[in-house]
Amino acid sequence: MTATGEPILRLRDLRVTFQTPAGPARAVRGVDLDVRAGESVAVVGESGSGKSVSMLATLGLLHNAEVSGSVKWGDTELVGASTDTLRSVRGRRIAMVFQDPMTSLNPVLTIGKQMSLVMKAHQPNLGKKELRTKAVDLLNRLAIPQADRRIDAYPHELSGGMRQRVMIAMAISNDPEVLIADEPTTALDVTVQAQIMELLLKLRNEHNLALVLITHDLGVVAGSADRVAVMYAGRIVERAPVLGLFASPGHPYTSALLDCLPRLDRRHDVVSSIGGTPPNPADLPEGCPFAPRCPKAIDACRSDEPNLVRIGTSDVACSVVAAGAAVGEPV
Ligand SMILES: Nc1ncnc2c1ncn2[C@@H]1O[C@H](COP(=O)(O)OP(=O)(O)O)[C@@H](O)[C@H]1O
Ligand code: SF4
Ligand SMILES: [Mg+2]
Repeated sequence: MTATGEPILRLRDLRVTFQTPAGPARAVRGVDLDVRAGESVAVVGESGSGKSVSMLATLGLLHNAEVSGSVKWGDTELVGASTDTLRSVRGRRIAMVFQDPMTSLNPVLTIGKQMSLVMKAHQPNLGKKELRTKAVDLLNRLAIPQADRRIDAYPHELSGGMRQRVMIAMAISNDPEVLIADEPTTALDVTVQAQIMELLLKLRNEHNLALVLITHDLGVVAGSADRVAVMYAGRIVERAPVLGLFASPGHPYTSALLDCLPRLDRRHDVVSSIGGTPPNPADLPEGCPFAPRCPKAIDACRSDEPNLVRIGTSDVACSVVAAGAAVGEPV
C-alpha cells in the first residue's frame, strides 16, 4: 500500500539527551521521519538504538530529558507543547501500544472498566451503557472471543495475546489518526505475533490509520510495513520502501540485520548475529558509529559521520556506499 498526501506526523531533527553519571547520553541524534495516513512505517534497529526514546519524545512522555527539534502532528508542534495540548493529542490523536501489556494494564480493574476510563478521558459525554457497548464492539473487532464476557475479566485472567489485543482495543478506542506500536508482538509466540500483526494492518486499512511499528526484528517488517527506517546509535541510517530494503539493502548495518534473519536455505542451528555491540550513547566513537562493527569500514569512516543521501529509492547514511553509487542530492 502506498499512501500519498501530506504527512500526518512529521519528525524533524529530533534529538534527545539524558544527563547520566557517565555524562550526556545522546540517545536520539537528529531523526527525520514522515508518516502518512493509511501507511505503515517500521522503525527497526537493535536494542538501544533509540527507537522507543524517539517515540516517547514524540508524545512528550520523557521527563528529565533534553528534547529538541520538531514533531508536528498536522500543524501542531508537539516539542515544547503545553501539558494541555499534549494531553489532548496523546491517546486521542496519537495512541501508543507498548510491548508488555501486563505493565500497562491495571491489575485491579476489569478490562471493561479500564476501557471505559480511557474512552471517558476524551469522550466525556458517553454514558455507562454506551461505553460498555463500544468496549464490547472494540473487543469484537480485535477478534476477542466472547467479548461480552471477557469485558468483565481482570488482566491476569487473559493470555498474553489476549492482553495485547485489549491494549490495542484501548489504543484505538478514541479513533486516533496515528498508532505507534512499540514492539507490540515481542513478548508473544510466533503464531500469536502473526495474528496481532494481521489485526494491526486490518485496523490500519479500515481506519486509514498511520501506523508506526517499532521493532528490533526485521523479520516482522517484511509483511507489515510500507516503508522502513533503520536506526543505529540514535540516528536513522537508512530509509527505504520495504521491498527495496529487502531486495537491495543500502547500509552495511541493514545488510548485517538481514543476514541475521533465519532463512529457509540456511541450517536452523546456525544463528548468525552481528559481531560486537552498539555503542554507548554516553560514549559515542568519532566518525561513523557503526565503524567498529562494519565490514566495509575504511580509515575515513573513523573521522566523519555520514549524513543520509539519496541512492535510488533509498536514503542511506554511509560514505563508502555513497562513493560507489550514483548519488542524488543530500536529504
Ligand atoms: N531515562 C534514561 N536515562 C538515560 N539513558 C536512557 C534513558 N532511557 C533510555 N536511555 C538510553 O537511550 C538509548 C536508547 O534507548 P531506547 O530508545 O529505549 O532503545 P530501543 O531502540 O531499544 O527502543 C539506550 O542506550 C538507553 O539506555
Ligand atoms: S560509513 Fe564506513 S563504517 Fe559507516 S557504515 Fe559506511 S562503510 Fe561502514
Ligand atoms: Mg524499545
